[in-house]
Formats: sequence, structure tokens, C-alpha cells
Amino acid sequence: MKNIVIFGATSTIAQHVARLHANDGDNLYLLARDQQKLSIITQDLQIRGAQSVSTALFDAEELTSHHQLINDIFKYFNHIDCIFIAHGSLSNQTECQSSASHTLQQLTINASSIISILTPIANKMEKQQDGNITVISSVAGDRGRQSNYVYGAAKSLVSTFLQGLAQRLSKSNVHVLDIKPGFVETQMTAELTKNILWSSPEYVAKIIKKRIESKSLFSYVPWFWFIIMAIIKFIPAKLFNRSQL
Ligand SMILES: NC(=O)c1ccc[n+]([C@@H]2O[C@H](COP(=O)([O-])OP(=O)(O)OC[C@H]3O[C@@H](n4cnc5c(N)ncnc54)[C@H](OP(=O)(O)O)[C@@H]3O)[C@@H](O)[C@H]2O)c1
Repeated sequence: MKNIVIFGATSTIAQHVARLHANDGDNLYLLARDQQKLSIITQDLQIRGAQSVSTALFDAEELTSHHQLINDIFKYFNHIDCIFIAHGSLSNQTECQSSASHTLQQLTINASSIISILTPIANKMEKQQDGNITVISSVAGDRGRQSNYVYGAAKSLVSTFLQGLAQRLSKSNVHVLDIKPGFVETQMTAELTKNILWSSPEYVAKIIKKRIESKSLFSYVPWFWFIIMAIIKFIPAKLFNRSQL
């Protein structure tokens, strides 16, 4: 039986990860900004077999509240097996271009809030000397594109932070995993047209759990995004800037 903490627990991908842990009879601690959604998810996870489900309100934009939240979690569980961070916002690029304050708000949700919670979490996990920290970033962070570079820049910041954190915490036996999904059919992408490159949240959740259990350091989900992004990163800037990618 494991102790699992999930930030952004109302996210579609996070809910599927939580269900897999409920099937295993694990203890879950869910954090999200909507109490009503949290209550519905809690009931569902209890029916699916979770040993216990606790919840707390978490707003990514309320940076000053984060330190206390982390202290509360580490007081509640003597030992944490996994901290999974899934919240995020698919930024509206047009709105970002016309408003610096909107851009900064998106950077707060997608990047600063994650650094804000990871900083105290890392120190506590370092003392614990084991466990896992998994964060969902995105393939969008691999190369800035005109259609979503604010979202991509935030994800890139998170990925770079995680690279350094993974190296630091490897000395303390803490596994740090950066998950970079491609297109996933979730609430966030409900309006977008789907094609063969899209994955289901059930599939993505299964891969994430497997990678955590095997202490994998491979980020791309599904794996073929590694090849797609390697090609996209390889395109010379002159050609890339003229393309519609
Ligand atoms: N879907 C994709 O194709 C895709 C691809 C690559 C990466 N990702 C990343 O995967 C992660 C999970 O997203 P998803 O696809 O599962 O989408 P989702 O179902 O829309 O989940 C997004 C989550 O972020 C939460 N959130 C947004 N703003 C917040 C705030 N200020 N404070 C606290 N929580 C906030 C939402 O909470 P509410 O329920 O309260 O709105 C929701 O739970 C995100 O980081 C996303 O960027 C998704």
C-alpha cells in the first residue's frame, strides 16, 4: 500500500492515474481548486478500492499558500511514495499576445506554481531519502512555436528545472520524472480536432504509472513523440520560421 499525493487531481490524466492507484488499494491525497469536483472524485476512488482518500484545496495561482500546504501533506503522511503534479492551462496564444498580464498569469499556472511547490517538496523528499516526484510538462516545451509559445515556454522552464532536480535528488535516491505527453484526449483539448497522433488518458495514465514503478527517466508519452520532436528540433531556424508548424 502506497501513499500518493496528486496536485491538479481534477485533471483528466490525473484522475486516470488516481484510479490505477485506487485499484491497488493505495492511500491518496488529492489537491485541486474545486471542492465539489474533489468530492465526486473521492467517492469514485473509494468505490474503486482506495484505502483512504484525503483532499485539500489548492489554487496554483495562490503562491503564498503553497508552503503551508506542503507542510500539511508531509505531516499527514509519515512517508510519501509519489508526488504527482498534473495541473495546467492550455494558454490562449492570441490572448497572451495582446495582454502581458494574461501571459504572466499563464506562466504562473504552468510554471511558477510548479516551482513554488517543488522547492519545498524537493527539500522534504531529499530528507526522506526515497520516493518519486512526477510532473507533467509537454512536448510543447521542446521547441517554441508561433501557435503556443507561451504555453511551450512555461513547459520548457519546468522541464529544465526538473532536469537539474533529477540530477540533484538522484544522490538521495529520489526518482524525478518529467512526463511529456503529445496530444491526449482530455477536458483541456476537448475542442481540438483529433487524428491518429492522439492518445487516450487511460493509456497515458498506464504508461505514467509503469514509468514511475520502473524508475524510468524516459519522458515522451507515447514513445513515438521522441522521434517527432527530434525531427522538429532538428529543423533549421530559417526553414522553421517560414513553416506553418
Ligand atoms: N491533454 C493534452 O493533450 C496534454 C498534452 C501535453 C501536456 N498536457 C498537460 O497535462 C496536464 C494535465 O492536463 P489534462 O490534459 O488532464 O487537462 P485537464 O483535464 O483540463 O486538467 C487541467 C487541470 O489543471 C487544473 N488547473 C488549471 N488551473 C488551475 C489553477 N489555477 N489551480 C489549480 N488547478 C488548476 C484544472 O482544474 P479545474 O478542474 O478546477 O479546472 C484541471 O484539473 C497539464 O499540465 C497539461 O498541460 C496535456
